[in-house]
Amino acid sequence: MIRFDSVSFRYRGDAPLALDGVCLALEAGELVAVVGANGSGKSTLARLCDGLLEPTSGSVTVDGLDSVDPASLWKVRSMVGMVFQDPDDQIVGTVVEEDCAFGPENLGLPSDEIRVRVDSSLRAVGLDGLERREPHLLSEGQKQRLAVAGALAMRPRYLVFDEPTAMLDPVGRRAVLEITERLAHAEGHGVLVVSHDIGGVARADRVIGLAGGRVVFDGAPEGLMDDASMLLRVGLSLPPAARLAAALRARGLDVPAPAADAESVVASLWR
Ligand SMILES: Nc1ncnc2c1ncn2[C@@H]1O[C@H](COP(=O)(O)OP(=O)(O)O)[C@@H](O)[C@H]1O
Ligand SMILES: [Mg+2]
Repeated sequence: MIRFDSVSFRYRGDAPLALDGVCLALEAGELVAVVGANGSGKSTLARLCDGLLEPTSGSVTVDGLDSVDPASLWKVRSMVGMVFQDPDDQIVGTVVEEDCAFGPENLGLPSDEIRVRVDSSLRAVGLDGLERREPHLLSEGQKQRLAVAGALAMRPRYLVFDEPTAMLDPVGRRAVLEITERLAHAEGHGVLVVSHDIGGVARADRVIGLAGGRVVFDGAPEGLMDDASMLLRVGLSLPPAARLAAALRARGLDVPAPAADAESVVASLWR
């Protein structure tokens, strides 16, 4: 479990708190979405998960190991994989398989073990067959899937994605969201996804909403979708179909939440 106990963080001594008393837990097998307006502390939270940042007060533990204890820092880093917003920033290899092998090579693993990990990671994100392709020839969505494969090759128990779909088109976005869902629900990773994608949020097991560095919502996505003022507070707006569904529900019609697409609203009206 990744656990935040009353975590506060400020970037400089005189800066305001970027995170303020955050408590949360992420279990293996769980898909948790983190939402919040710009500057609400989402990226700060993500970078605290694997010890990239050190809490100003409070503690972050990963399976009981303190994220900033020098004795466990490397273990923690190997247990938490990170994927960031811009795929171009994360590419280090000249061909796909070399890029994916970068992490395991730095761990000093034997080459046959690296081969096994690279092959299974590329397969997990649907990039098998493109092993010798130059990364700059990949689509943005493929590049982001390569970044996911690179993180997976480290065999982390937890994965933290900071706006992984922000640079992608709808097709690339859907593919990455499906991967995050499968990694949590089929493969048993604990997955934390910072995202504004309402479709992705709706599929999470739990949503954590941040405002001004504080947790203002922690619960099922349905609870968030039904709470218009909370949605506004965490910087989300519902797609038109979901707004329609909410309005119909408010008039007593039996339309299930969260309804992210028009077809499911229509289907529930015709039942
Ligand atoms: N490297 C940094 N140095 C100083 N302040 C920062 C830095 N990164 C973020 N901040 C500040 O911390 C707060 C939270 O930022 P961030 O975690 O990036 O929010 P989000 O990812 O939700 O947009 C903001 O007020 C932001 O200006
Ligand atoms: Mg951010």
